[in-house]
Amino acid sequence: MTTHAYRAALLRFADDGTPLYDADGLLVVGPNAQGQAVVHAAGDHAALIGQYPDLPVQDWRGHLIAPGFIDLHLHYPQLDVIGSPADGLLPWLEHYTFPHESRFAELAYAAEVARFFFDELQRHGVTTALAFSTSHPASVNAAFAEARARGLRFITGKVLQDRHSPDGVRDQTEQSLIDTEDLIRRWHGVDRLGYAITPRFAPTSTDAQMRGAGELAARYPDVWIQSHVAENRDEVRWVAELYPQARSYLGVYDSFGLLRERAVYAHCIHLDETDRALMAATGTAAAVSPTSNLFLGSGFFDFGAAQDAGMRHGLASDVGGGTSFSPFHTMLAAYFVGREGHTKAGLSLTPSRLWWLHTAGAAQALGLGQVVGGLRVGQEADFVRLNPQATPLLARKTAQANSLDELLFSLIVLGDDRAVAQTVIAGKT
Ligand code: GUN
Ligand code: ZN
Repeated sequence: MTTHAYRAALLRFADDGTPLYDADGLLVVGPNAQGQAVVHAAGDHAALIGQYPDLPVQDWRGHLIAPGFIDLHLHYPQLDVIGSPADGLLPWLEHYTFPHESRFAELAYAAEVARFFFDELQRHGVTTALAFSTSHPASVNAAFAEARARGLRFITGKVLQDRHSPDGVRDQTEQSLIDTEDLIRRWHGVDRLGYAITPRFAPTSTDAQMRGAGELAARYPDVWIQSHVAENRDEVRWVAELYPQARSYLGVYDSFGLLRERAVYAHCIHLDETDRALMAATGTAAAVSPTSNLFLGSGFFDFGAAQDAGMRHGLASDVGGGTSFSPFHTMLAAYFVGREGHTKAGLSLTPSRLWWLHTAGAAQALGLGQVVGGLRVGQEADFVRLNPQATPLLARKTAQANSLDELLFSLIVLGDDRAVAQTVIAGKT
């Protein structure tokens, strides 16, 4: 790739999460020593432009450049499960999700869904995702192949579920662990791809499968781990029956060596203070999925308590429990959920904090805080060009913004995919 420069309003995040904003900004991206597209310079246009006298500048004034969004948890095979109503999580899995996921044994079907899925991510400005595939290795191969062709930073894994699962999605203990290791060796670290060891949730894995997952995690320390925890009260009760000795639901994962940095657990709603302290101490992250939690009636993530405990967390769509791929919709739902959640210091969710939780904060939760999410110099060049005039009401409202938070809040409340004018992945538009 060659070096490119873009002039527009520019949002970035400092290492400590502080938003940095230039109303008339310049972003310069180009190859690093390894040939990867990274940020060379970012900041005020007038201050920087003198260093690039010969570089043509793409003029995007009137638009906003911001880090690409990071979706910390979703299920690519649940694209067609969105909007399936059920009386809570467990009936939803049984009636819609498991029957649908059984179709992903077939590579051609999985590949078609993967293409549609990545088109949706890009349309919505999502440039990094940690996603579930299904229990079929073909589903993982289809997703990785498609993500690789698009140059995306993408993490997924074969779902482990060897009990309490119907025919068609239930796997076999020993083979499931062999398949997982084969897939790690085939895909982890290839281009921008990463593997995640993926036990579906404690109720659907035997002790032997959970133990095997923990052993693989120990053998491959830079691989991710993803699962679900403490989403729904019936689910929490079920886990307590299955594991009467465990201190808590989260404690089950701890006992199998599945809490650590690069471990990301969806939901984390029904946790106690000891659980939150354990997540903070181990570097384990929560993928907060507010549209899913509201849709399935699961409950409300406590943003204030999470922040006070110092536990890593970021935002996720959880499609298809979640109702939208749109990071704007997810940020707005998080705001609704967080309305009651105060930290000891005060309000927990400002507009720039919500935005951070879906970009640089989510990158930190993945252990990729130095790599993506903030548009800092040296970070990978994944970004979006947002059009604050995308709809008549958005144009009217953003024209009246007197501060960064007012601008971001207008986009969060009124924005959707229409505001995403362009998604740039590794410097490619
Ligand atoms: N818990 C176990 N599997 C799932 C799933 O597919 N979606 C959600 N939201 N929760 C789960
Ligand atoms: Zn999920």
